[in-house]
Amino acid sequence: MTEVPALAIILAAGKGTRMKSALPKVMHRLAGASLIAHVLGASKAAGIERICIVVAPGMDEVGSSASAVQPKLDVFVQEKQLGTADAVKAAQQALENFQGHVLVLYGDTPLLRAETIEAARNELHAGADLVVLGFETDTPAGYGRLLLDERGCLTGIREEKDASEAERAITLCNSGIMGFRAAGTLLDLLGRIGKNNAKGEFYLTDAVALARGDRLEARMIKANAEEVLGVNSRAELAAAEEAMQRRLRLAFMDAGVTMTAPDTVYFSHDTRIGKDVVIEPHVIFGPKVVIEDGATIRAFSHIEGAHIGKDAVVGPFARLRPGADLAREAHVGNFVEIKQAEIGEGAKVNHLTYIGDASIGARANIGAGTITCNYDGFAKHKTEIGEGAFIGSNTSLVAPVKIGEGAYIGSGSVITKDVAPDALALTRTPQEERQGWAAKLRRRLTRGGNKKT
Ligand code: UD1
Ligand code: CA
Repeated sequence: MTEVPALAIILAAGKGTRMKSALPKVMHRLAGASLIAHVLGASKAAGIERICIVVAPGMDEVGSSASAVQPKLDVFVQEKQLGTADAVKAAQQALENFQGHVLVLYGDTPLLRAETIEAARNELHAGADLVVLGFETDTPAGYGRLLLDERGCLTGIREEKDASEAERAITLCNSGIMGFRAAGTLLDLLGRIGKNNAKGEFYLTDAVALARGDRLEARMIKANAEEVLGVNSRAELAAAEEAMQRRLRLAFMDAGVTMTAPDTVYFSHDTRIGKDVVIEPHVIFGPKVVIEDGATIRAFSHIEGAHIGKDAVVGPFARLRPGADLAREAHVGNFVEIKQAEIGEGAKVNHLTYIGDASIGARANIGAGTITCNYDGFAKHKTEIGEGAFIGSNTSLVAPVKIGEGAYIGSGSVITKDVAPDALALTRTPQEERQGWAAKLRRRLTRGGNKKT
């Protein structure tokens, strides 16, 4: 879309005291990814080449987790939290060497979309020196208010604590997201921002009135209020999660996924789903799940780190853990847990079973109550089951162990040794039968009047 390079500064040094947490605020998670990872994702998707984040001393984990999402990233440390303008100044070095658009984003607004960042950049292209992303809300408390002149032009931003009663009645608010056409302009404005305000902080928002004084053009564009929701408390985190889930559900339905009760299905930011997949109510996805076309996920299943093949059926009440890899048309039924295991094409693991550290061949049938005993208290061991094998109900497979292709395991067996292809293995004690024994017992007990001896 644009030839002008862009740099984003993501502010993340705030302590977020209202979160009452040992974690820095921007490390709290939404759909499985940290707040700052969402902002990084939107910046990347908007084509921003250079990204800087500003953290407080001791927030090394924020820098390292952000670098994991976005390897080309500069981390700056704001020594003391003296306000948002001071935070931007921490990244001064990056600004000094940069020619192009600068966007200031807040690490605590995870719902911001790439399209909105692009809309702000379009204003800069069109000639604005500064652009502010505003939003309308019925509950403006806590936000800076946007001041407009009689022609509707942006003249300044007033923080709540500094606002007059009339200004507090304004419902047009500052999202915190700002764009500057030139890094030089931003540096110049930063140099002149003071801290003559109720909080005694350096407010980035003062840049607007200063720019107007310089006869620079400051514009405002409106964003959707939900999209710029700032997370300052656990309640706002929950509200942001709900909004993010609604967004993910709509995107999946648009892409051809059927959900009978979408409000009860929870996705991860990285869930990938093919076409004509059906997801029944009350399903939860953890990170790293891929579902191929035509699969069905039945109600009350919990799925993370799993690959589900074409036309496979999972659940109801199934748990797929990391490394579960279901080939096409595999069936995993109720009260079954699968971990680090390949389930071959058309194989069935339908009831009350634990399969861990295993490979199950195509068309094998795993009976109810089968357990792979994969752990001896020290190490994990593998169970290999060949194609078309039949494991009778209530079998314990003590790993490491191999069951050959087409082998048959009698129900209730404890298998500790490898089984050859097409063999029958069973470890039950032989059944004994005593003719008439039960009838005799009943007669004896009735005759004796059921007296205690
Ligand atoms: C800020 C805006 C306000 C806007 C609101 C939107 C200012 C002065 N006010 O207020 O107009 O309506 O956001 O959500 O900018 N941060 C630092 N270092 C600091 C202070 C803050 O890095 O010294 C970071 C925080 O981590 C956060 C962001 O800047 O990501 C915003 O700071 P916060 O304290 O949440 O500002 P608000 O009071 O919400
Ligand atoms: Ca905030």
